[in-house]
Amino acid sequence: MTNPYEAARASAARLAEITGQPSHDVAVVLGSGWLPAADVIGDTAAEFPISELGGFAKPTVAGHAPVARSVRTGRLQVLVYLGRTHLYEGHPVDAVVHGVRTAAAAGCRVIVLTNASGGINESYRPGQAVLISDHINLTGRSPLTGPEPPAGYASRFVDLSDLYAARLRALARRADPDLAEGVYVAFHGPHYETPAEIRMARGAGADMVGMSTALEAIAAGHLGAEVLGISLVTNPAAGLSPSGLDHTEVIAVGQHSAARVGALLAQLIPTTVPAEPPQPPRGPASGDDSNTPPGASSEPA
Ligand code: HPA
Repeated sequence: MTNPYEAARASAARLAEITGQPSHDVAVVLGSGWLPAADVIGDTAAEFPISELGGFAKPTVAGHAPVARSVRTGRLQVLVYLGRTHLYEGHPVDAVVHGVRTAAAAGCRVIVLTNASGGINESYRPGQAVLISDHINLTGRSPLTGPEPPAGYASRFVDLSDLYAARLRALARRADPDLAEGVYVAFHGPHYETPAEIRMARGAGADMVGMSTALEAIAAGHLGAEVLGISLVTNPAAGLSPSGLDHTEVIAVGQHSAARVGALLAQLIPTTVPAEPPQPPRGPASGDDSNTPPGASSEPA
């Protein structure tokens, strides 16, 4: 069986063929409610079903073919996924993070992960965008489970201390000084959480709750990409509103706010990649053939 890193390199090669772009600079994953943002990020150079890239899981939503776009904004080529693969669909973790690994293999050094979430922090209002400052991964899974990654990739014992890069969050706050920052807790789903789970998550320091992003962020960080996470709060989390949770409401709030959050992304993305990159991405293309990042021991106790 091909390893997931090879599969991502093959998908990145297909991406280059389909788009005619040898590489991409930034990737954006658009979560629930964020789709209209795709139209304002830049000029669409190509749009294609992600199935053409290979390696993606078959979606479990009938009649819905997930697509990606190659978009130009300023000097940057942006890979935009209009949707994502969720763990709750029953797909393996490697399938959930294949888009992010493909983006990194295509050269993306910045990966923007967007999602919809329930607000645990009671100061948050539906329709509000919140920067993800950190996450709590309660999915019980990791994209790095298994043997050490192949030679040329960083160790699986990856440091997540600055996973949601402080540099990118500072840029986002410059674009919108009112942006709040919060901790995102990822549950497996697809059921919404119980009020008791939300109380537990709040006690653990979580501000918003969802069913995505954390595994993709880990996979991106492992590949040396900087991650920017932005969550659109669509509802008060379970137990925090007398009316309960309704999936159609979650979608409706997302749609209502999409133009505003899209404008934020459009403004922000061109600023994320400095003209002179501070450091190249990790991976075989960088010529780094060490399997152990600086400071990492080979095996934690
Ligand atoms: N819980 C989990 N995922 C979500 C929620 C929620 O309350 N709202 C939007 N996505």
